[in-house]
Amino acid sequence: MSDIRDIKAAVVGTGFIGVVHVEALRRLGIEVTGIVGSTPERAAEKARTAGLPAPYPSFEAMLEDPAVQVVHLTTPNRLHYEQVKATLAAGKHVVCEKPLGMDSTETAELLRLAEQSGLVHAVNFNVRFYAQCLEARARVARGDIGDVRLISGGYLQDWLLFDTDWNWRLDPAEGGSLRAVGDIGSHWLDLVQFITGRRVEAVMADLTTFIPVRKQPTGPVETFSGAAAGETIDTAMETEDAAGILLRFSGGARGIVTVSQVSAGRKNRLSFEVDGSTNALSWISEAPEELWLGHRDRPNELLLREAGEYPPGHAEGFPDTFKALYRRVYAAVAAGGPGDDYPTFADGHDEAVIADAIARSHAEQRWVAVDPVPQEV
Ligand SMILES: NC(=O)c1ccc[n+]([C@@H]2O[C@H](COP(=O)([O-])OP(=O)(O)OC[C@H]3O[C@@H](n4cnc5c(N)ncnc54)[C@H](O)[C@@H]3O)[C@@H](O)[C@H]2O)c1
Repeated sequence: MSDIRDIKAAVVGTGFIGVVHVEALRRLGIEVTGIVGSTPERAAEKARTAGLPAPYPSFEAMLEDPAVQVVHLTTPNRLHYEQVKATLAAGKHVVCEKPLGMDSTETAELLRLAEQSGLVHAVNFNVRFYAQCLEARARVARGDIGDVRLISGGYLQDWLLFDTDWNWRLDPAEGGSLRAVGDIGSHWLDLVQFITGRRVEAVMADLTTFIPVRKQPTGPVETFSGAAAGETIDTAMETEDAAGILLRFSGGARGIVTVSQVSAGRKNRLSFEVDGSTNALSWISEAPEELWLGHRDRPNELLLREAGEYPPGHAEGFPDTFKALYRRVYAAVAAGGPGDDYPTFADGHDEAVIADAIARSHAEQRWVAVDPVPQEV
C-alpha cells in the first residue's frame, strides 16, 4: 500500500462544502492540485478569498490532468450524474456529495458503472464519522440496548425560514423533486441505518410547503449566505419546506422523523434516539461530544467522547467528520480498490430508492414499500 500523502485530488465546486473538502484533504496531507468552479473567473476569486488552490480552466481540463487520481464533486445535485460518469470514464476515483443523483434511475446507473470500474467510489455521508455516532453504532452492534425497537429524531434547520431566503436547492431542476428530505433527511436516514444496522423497508410521508412563493434573486447566491439584496422575481415553490415520515425498519423496528428547513433557531440540528428492549441511546449534532445513555433501572449517563481525531476534551466537530471519512476513502485508494468502512455509491443509491418511496407515499397518501421498484405494502 502506498502512503495516502502521495495521492493527489481535485475538487469540483467551490461553494460552502467545496471549501470544507479542500480543508479536510489538506489536513490529511493530500495535495489538491486545483479546483473547478462554474467559471474560471469566479473560481479564481473564490480561491483568493478562501485560500484555495488555483482553478483549472475547465472540468474537462481537470480530468485530462494525469496527476489527479481522486475527484471530489461538490456541485449542485443536478450535475452529479454527468460529472460522476465523466470522472469514472477518465479512470479516476470519485467522492460525490449527497444526494448521489436526482433520482434512483440515475443512482442505479452510477452504482453499476462504479462497480464495473474497480475504482473507489464514495458518497459524502460525513455525519457517520462523528466519534459518538461510531460509538453508538458499536454499542448497538454489541447488544448494549437489546433489540432495536424505536428509532426517532429529526433534522431541523432555519436558513430557508423567510420568503426572501433563496438557494439553488429551491429549484427542483437543480436540487431534485424532494428538497428538505433529499438535502438533510438523506443524512438522517443514512445515519440511523448505519447505527442500527436496520434497513428502511416502508414509509408513510407527509410533505409540506409552508411558503408557496419565494423571492428569487436574479443573481447567484451561495449556500448559508443569507437573504440576497437586489432584484428578485416571485417564484412558486414545488418542493417541501418540512416533512414528517413514519418508518418501518427491518427486524420489526419502527421509526418517525421530522425534517425541516424552516424551524427558527435550529441552525443545523440532527438528532436521533434509538430505544431498545433494555436500554436507549441518543445524540444531537449541536452537542456532538455527548452520547446520552438511557437506562430503566439505574441512573442515566452522559458519555463524553473518548476516541476520535483529537484527545478527549479537545472538542471535535463538523470539519473533523470529513477528515475521518477521507482517511478511510484514501486508505482504499492507496490499497488499490474499494474498501468497506465508508459510505459508497450503494449507500447513495439506497438513499435515492428510499427518497422515491417517500415521494410516492406523499403523492398517494399511503404506506409505500422501499424497493428497487417501489410497490404497495
Ligand atoms: N455533506 C454535507 O454535509 C453537505 C453540506 C452542504 C452541501 N452538501 C452537498 O454539496 C453539494 C453542494 O452544496 P453547497 O451547499 O456547497 O452549494 P453551493 O451553492 O454553496 O456551492 C456549489 C458550487 O458549485 C459551483 N458550480 C455550479 N456549477 C458548476 C459547474 N458546472 N462546474 C463546477 N462548479 C459548479 C458553484 O459555483 C458553487 O461554487 C450539494 O450536492 C449538497 O447537497 C453536502
